[in-house]
Amino acid sequence: MPGKHLSRWTLAWFGSALLALLAACGLGLLGVAGPGAWTGGNGLALVHVFALGWLCQVMMGALVQFVPVLAARPLALPMLALPALLVSSAGTVALALGFLVLEGREALQPLFLAAPAAIGLGFAMVAAMVGATLSSRDSLRLAEVRMVLLALLALAGLWLSGAMMVLTLSGRDPAVDLSQALPLHMLLGIGGWLSLAAFGVSYKLFAMFLIAPDQGGRLRGAVFLAAALLVAVLLAAFLMVLAGRPAEGATTVALGLIPVLILLYLAEIARIWRSRRRVAPEVNMLWSRAALAFLGFAMALSVPGWLLGGPWAEAAVFAALVGWLSTLTLAQLVKIVGFLTWIQVFAPRIGRQPVPMVQKLIDAKAATLCLALWSAGTLAGCLALLAASPAGFRLAAALLSLAALGIVRELIAVRHLSHLAAEERPAPLPPLILPLLQPR
Ligand code: HEM
Repeated sequence: MPGKHLSRWTLAWFGSALLALLAACGLGLLGVAGPGAWTGGNGLALVHVFALGWLCQVMMGALVQFVPVLAARPLALPMLALPALLVSSAGTVALALGFLVLEGREALQPLFLAAPAAIGLGFAMVAAMVGATLSSRDSLRLAEVRMVLLALLALAGLWLSGAMMVLTLSGRDPAVDLSQALPLHMLLGIGGWLSLAAFGVSYKLFAMFLIAPDQGGRLRGAVFLAAALLVAVLLAAFLMVLAGRPAEGATTVALGLIPVLILLYLAEIARIWRSRRRVAPEVNMLWSRAALAFLGFAMALSVPGWLLGGPWAEAAVFAALVGWLSTLTLAQLVKIVGFLTWIQVFAPRIGRQPVPMVQKLIDAKAATLCLALWSAGTLAGCLALLAASPAGFRLAAALLSLAALGIVRELIAVRHLSHLAAEERPAPLPPLILPLLQPR
């Protein structure tokens, strides 16, 4: 059960990530970046508020909550959760502001140089908690556990590539060839760290929410092998870049592995879906299917993205970050926050008084509307990038902003137990964010 070992700071991680999501949507709406305008300081700042502020933080918060479930043991080093959150948030803000150096704001150079150190410290603390929790002989037998550990390896590569590019852009040594390092950086971040962590967590969550048998078979083993090969090739390619050697061949091999990995993963998820005992899946699972469709779409776009670059590459990255990873996260977040709130408020009352079902804490219609809007915004964004239309991209950003605001509103309603009848709502209400206390 995801809430058996509640981590005190999970909701703080989620809250901080959602703030970054709203900030990124707002920046997109203001037209800070858009089709063909991602390489300047403003575009890079927006990309990283989204990728680091939103996706990395929500993923790290989710891992801190769920690795105890994956390993069936309490979180190791839990005292690191809050410092990791603080330092990674500070690092993300510093990096986003630091990118403005590229717009001529030289005074921000110290922030730019300090950002990788802060982000790296945050990553290291999360890796220590997650790695120490998962590293036992029993848990290492599970493919999903090995998948999360692989994601941590990719996270190290992502950080190293990012930090080296910051040094290069600041004119410091050692410098790397940016044209070779950048594709590897993106693949390590999106395909390695974020997607592999999502794969590992989704095996467990999907089986639980669909009431499906939770057993890895040969297919899951094959997904792991493909993922391990991908991470190994990406890391080797980056080491070649560091050594000043050409790495295009290795990058092409990595790009060739990605469709294999995704098709194997989708086949494994289809297997879990078919073996489910829940006849009518809930909103989080229904909309996870949209996320999986965006994963397939991003995969299809990645081929012309690599061969032709330009709008195709922009649309592929957008489909992966906004479509696949964000739709999955937003859909599951509604259920997870509902579940954690239920554990916190109602689990201690079981057997003493009637308690509502978890579903009653969530307004499925409101969540459906927001997730449909998010998916429509993503599709509109991909089309606008392909058509190089700034006006279309603004429209997409407006849809995404509305959807994000709607989800945040729904999450606050869940925390306030707003969808329960007054007599079902115990007093006092749980604190909105800080800290999540263990049920007594
Ligand atoms: C999951 C996390 C991350 C993702 C998904 C990500 C993604 C990206 C993407 C898509 C770009 C290209 C953007 C564009 O061309 O406009 C980029 C560039 C860059 N990233 Fe990241 N990034 C992540 C984390 C980091 C971190 C942790 C650092 C620093 C420690 C970093 C430093 C950089 C730098 C310096 C560039 C600019 C390279 C250049 O202009 O040639 N990134 N990143």
